Amino acid sequence: MISAILLAAGTGERFGAKKQFVEINNKPLFSYSLEVLLEFEKIEEIFLVIPLDKFSETFEKKVFNQFSNKVQLVAGGKTRAESVEKAIENLDPRTKLVLIHDAARPLLNCNQLNQLIDEIKSHDGATMVRPIHDTVKRIQRGQKISPVKREGLYAVETPQVFKYESLKSAILFTKNLDEVFTDETTALEHLNMKVLHVPNKDFNLKITTKDDMVVAEKFLQKQLKYSIGLDYHSVEPGPGISVGGVDIACEIQTKAHSDGDVLLHAIIDALFGALSSKDIGEHFPENENNKNIDSKKMLVDALNQFKKHFNIYFVDATITLNSPKISPHRKEIQASVAKLLSISKNNVSIKAITRNGLNFIDFKEGWGAEVILTFGK
Ligand code: CTP
Ligand code: MG
Repeated sequence: MISAILLAAGTGERFGAKKQFVEINNKPLFSYSLEVLLEFEKIEEIFLVIPLDKFSETFEKKVFNQFSNKVQLVAGGKTRAESVEKAIENLDPRTKLVLIHDAARPLLNCNQLNQLIDEIKSHDGATMVRPIHDTVKRIQRGQKISPVKREGLYAVETPQVFKYESLKSAILFTKNLDEVFTDETTALEHLNMKVLHVPNKDFNLKITTKDDMVVAEKFLQKQLKYSIGLDYHSVEPGPGISVGGVDIACEIQTKAHSDGDVLLHAIIDALFGALSSKDIGEHFPENENNKNIDSKKMLVDALNQFKKHFNIYFVDATITLNSPKISPHRKEIQASVAKLLSISKNNVSIKAITRNGLNFIDFKEGWGAEVILTFGK
């Protein structure tokens, strides 16, 4: 059996924050590699090692719950080696191979994992490495103190794969030594175990400083997609309307089979659009079951389907309504939509227009909303 350890318990001293929790496209950095580990079917259990003070946040944000029960949280240690040790204590005893990856490297892919597992054979461990092409010098106080020939120099990356018993004995043996090993292959080699070095064909960015995060954003945002959602309803005299989950008292009410929250319907339409999954009317037909149905409930159903495949990055909505005016309620609607979608308020835009007498809406007979949803893996 193969178990994986995803290391995300560092303090990010050089970055200035716990970089693995910085969000790109509304997802913490660590979840990019976690998703790849989950996708890789040969792995049967995954230990996500995070700082103890991040446990509740990780649960709250549903970053963890959305994943299968393959994932277990482990509290990290003071050093990377200690974090590995704590995860190993929890491994299933049937484990034969252990895969270790740094959450600070978000560009992990399944080819790298397959390559290491296929090639480890009689070695105790295998790691991805990158040949160093730059001229290298060791410099102290501005002065070169020793020449370093770049021939044969490699930067050691993760992912790394280990025979379980070899890794366990190397960790146990090296843990009380003064020497600090910044990765497990070095600990194995200290005990003369055999490590295979596999040159990585892919760009395997490691986030260390803020500049690296700028590069990561550029790489990870390539996967953006867009969908559109529309809804229009007529109105009649009444006590008020619901807009994005906010009740607004006014002189009209929406004529609808549901509660008539046109903005939420447009968002739901865009969510189904993202899934290429028919329209809202087919998902919630006009029957007794759905009579006066709460649009928030419809949204939860749509989101549950959507979140199996994608994350929401941005919602831009335009409401078309003559009266009441949306502007006094804009912030409240923005906060409500953000909360319903579990995204930041900064990623929700709510605008409103009239159509200057050009169609039925300005004859006070109806209202509508149009939404563009930006989303991705
Ligand atoms: N890591 C860990 N536990 C630690 C230290 C590091 O799980 N006690 C993880 C980090 O979260 C990261 C990986 O090991 O995913 C590689 O470490 P590094 O890039 O050095 O991250 P930090 O230790 O957080 O950064 P810094 O060294 O700048 O403090
Ligand atoms: Mg470190």
